[in-house]
Amino acid sequence: MDKIVALCKRRGFIFQNSEIYGGQNGFWDYGPLGTELKRNVRGVWYDDMVATHNELVQEESAPSTYQMVGLETAIIMHPQVWKCSGHYDLFHDMMVDCHACKGRFRQDHIPATACPQKPSKTVGEHTGCSLTEPREFNLMMKTIIGALGTEEDAAFLRPETAQGIFVNFRNVVDSSRVKLPFGISQVGKSFRNEITPRNFTFRSREFEQMEIEFFCHPDQSRDWYTYWRDRRYRWYQKLGISSERLILRDHHQEELAHYSVGTADIEYAFPFLNEGEYGELEGIAHRGDFDLRSHMEGKLAKDANGELAVELTADGQPKHRGSGKDLTYFDDQRRERFLPHVIEPSAGADRATLAFLCEAYHEDAQPDDKGDMQERVVMKFHPRLAPVKAAVFPLIKKDGMPEKAMQVYGDLKAAGISVQYDQQGAIGRRYRRQDEIGTPYCLTIDGDTAEDGCVTIRDRDSLTQERIPVNRIVDEIQSRLRG
Ligand code: GAP
Repeated sequence: MDKIVALCKRRGFIFQNSEIYGGQNGFWDYGPLGTELKRNVRGVWYDDMVATHNELVQEESAPSTYQMVGLETAIIMHPQVWKCSGHYDLFHDMMVDCHACKGRFRQDHIPATACPQKPSKTVGEHTGCSLTEPREFNLMMKTIIGALGTEEDAAFLRPETAQGIFVNFRNVVDSSRVKLPFGISQVGKSFRNEITPRNFTFRSREFEQMEIEFFCHPDQSRDWYTYWRDRRYRWYQKLGISSERLILRDHHQEELAHYSVGTADIEYAFPFLNEGEYGELEGIAHRGDFDLRSHMEGKLAKDANGELAVELTADGQPKHRGSGKDLTYFDDQRRERFLPHVIEPSAGADRATLAFLCEAYHEDAQPDDKGDMQERVVMKFHPRLAPVKAAVFPLIKKDGMPEKAMQVYGDLKAAGISVQYDQQGAIGRRYRRQDEIGTPYCLTIDGDTAEDGCVTIRDRDSLTQERIPVNRIVDEIQSRLRG
């Protein structure tokens, strides 16, 4: 993990936030290559889940055809949203302080958290440790709207993008003529005041989510749950995550979130974890009608019989009032009005990016220009995710090679392919610079190019080299990226 973190800084993938001021715990900045990588993670997710989804054709594993649309909602929402969603009352962790070291820890992480005092032991193990009783700590970040700055003007930065989708359910149905079953997707920033942000970008206070709320008839919800669970697992595999390090784990009943009747996590064996441990990349939850009903009627909770019902105060009033707006759906074919059930595949863009970075990291040895073996770091990103798709090199800086190489570079740029131009140093060194950032294809213009009109394309993983005509380069790279 240390090597990956060092590479991220050295090559401009990820930087510590506000580093020149000593950093800000739980916040990270993406450098030039990290920006491209994360843009590709988001873009591939949106393309695969929404943009290229064909609602007229039934996928083999899908219960029926379905529609997918996108949405982009504001980070700050009406405070009542969080009261009805349950985040206001329930979105907290138990926190413990230590009077001795002044450290603050998440209670459930204590057995695995190092005490800041020396010699190294876990929290609570030193004789001087003086831990407080666990206290609840709400994870939502608070801010103030407007100039007055009173408590009535308090608002929260969203802790998930999902609620923006639920409160716009009626708008989407009325404006885009979608028919059940359909999914609404959203990619965007979320904020959580994590007590102990850690493990690089894995647990941050500002992060990005890629969420789908999939609305369907209650009778079909189990089948859709299974469909999304398996489809989302395959998505990571198709983008190169090895099944040895990727697991699909069904939650036990007691682990389920307050709204969920079934959840599975897709988890990855991040290198900062112990052998046999996995960290969550994505949760796929069957949320029933909890969210739509809460926003319609008032915040739900399980009653004395274990049934979901509007939660009441001691004097019989709804604890948090819903919007009172009708969020039911009328199904023309069934001639039936009902509240749809929801399946939610909720992924983290930063965690996915981190998993793709960890999975890509490889070390090997390759012969240099003189045939001597040299150690190489190579990031084996899937070509769709690679921040730079191709690099163009003139073999030497004369005999018309730089001009030809610049022309090839310009053609690739004009086609929207992320490409770098490099004419510095021996060709082997240039390959290694590109290998280290995961560029899948390197193109060399040499002495023969002027005569045969071809360039050499070298593949990062197989190291095979082929001659291809200059006028076919753009097509060739595009087809390899698609393939
Ligand atoms: N709407 C459901 C929801 O937000 P979640 O399991 O709390 O569910 C979904 O979050 C995903 O968001 C996680 O699987 C993870 O990838 C990402 N995520 C959550 N908290 C995070 C954090 N503190 N830092 C980075 N990513 C986080």
